[in-house]
Amino acid sequence: MALPSLVLRRCVSSSAPANVIKHVTVVGGGLMGSGIAQVAAQNGQDVTLVDVNDAVLSKSRGIIETSLKRVVKKMFKDNPADGEKLVQETLEKIKTLTDVNEAVKETDLVVEAIIENIDLKQKLFSSIDEIAPDHTIFASNTSSLSIGEIASVTKRKDRFGGLHFFNPVPVMKLLEVIRTEDTSDDTYQKMMAWGQAVGKTCITCKDTPGFVVNRLLVPYMSEAVRMLERGDATARDIDTAMKLGAGLPMGPLELSDYTGLDTGLYISEGWHKKFPDEPLFKPSKLMKKLVSEGKLGRKSGEGFYKY
Ligand code: 3HC
Repeated sequence: MALPSLVLRRCVSSSAPANVIKHVTVVGGGLMGSGIAQVAAQNGQDVTLVDVNDAVLSKSRGIIETSLKRVVKKMFKDNPADGEKLVQETLEKIKTLTDVNEAVKETDLVVEAIIENIDLKQKLFSSIDEIAPDHTIFASNTSSLSIGEIASVTKRKDRFGGLHFFNPVPVMKLLEVIRTEDTSDDTYQKMMAWGQAVGKTCITCKDTPGFVVNRLLVPYMSEAVRMLERGDATARDIDTAMKLGAGLPMGPLELSDYTGLDTGLYISEGWHKKFPDEPLFKPSKLMKKLVSEGKLGRKSGEGFYKY
């Protein structure tokens, strides 16, 4: 049962198929994984969140609790005790484990949100493929890798797809649902219904580099860096231009700092290697320089701006 007051932005239309997924295992307790676990629990799902050690999982719990408090603060302005109760009830729906094999023994859906490394992702899925029940759907939250390539190491390519969330997950309303050539109709319908059940607006995309959002966003952010390199405008002016001239909540350089310069560079480099003739994927020199200096954006205290 969904926690009634915490069901946010639910967008299930009357024609949407019913959600049959009741338990989700989220692998990876970073910002994305914590956010995915949170929105699933907020919307009544039983969740197991997995990461390599208890210290990481305790940090994940902290991220989720802080975010939930922000959510309920607005909803329970006059009754903070009820807000706190809902935070606790939601947290109770999230179990944490360090053993992924144990976690997937009884689950309907596995959403992987570990680091962007195809070998590690394949290793994970190949190992849990042997253990998870037959009906369990596997999904990756990869932002740039091919879902089909990740799925290729499993024996359940028909029950494999992409579920790509956006940062900050509790706030961003979109979920990209990616189907490969092997994803079955049944799996696709179940992923769509689950996405809607956890409060997201779902769009469908083929298994193409960056899907919809990152395919547009990554070249746009790289082009902003090239403008800065050429000295066409200052960082502040580029960001102000896109906020006030295009109505975006953040300018491209602020957004790059927010999502991490290392993440952006890693995506561009990976795509450039695969598609060397595509000029939009060419990594910029300035990004490389900043990353090599450890200036990764907000998380390191400095990127295009100082924090
Ligand atoms: N949890 C819960 N609530 C949160 C939150 C969180 N982690 N972060 C922000 N909020 C809420 C705040 O409480 C606030 O709510 P209110 O308006 O009802 O009071 C609201 O969101 C706005 O937050 P702030 O006032 O702190 O700050 P901003 O107004 O500047 O908004 C932002 C912050 C939502 C991050 C906004 O700047 C934004 O939308 N930026 C663009 C983010 C974006 O483009 N994300 C996609 C990146 S690409 C990606 O993720 C793909 C991946 O593959 C890399």
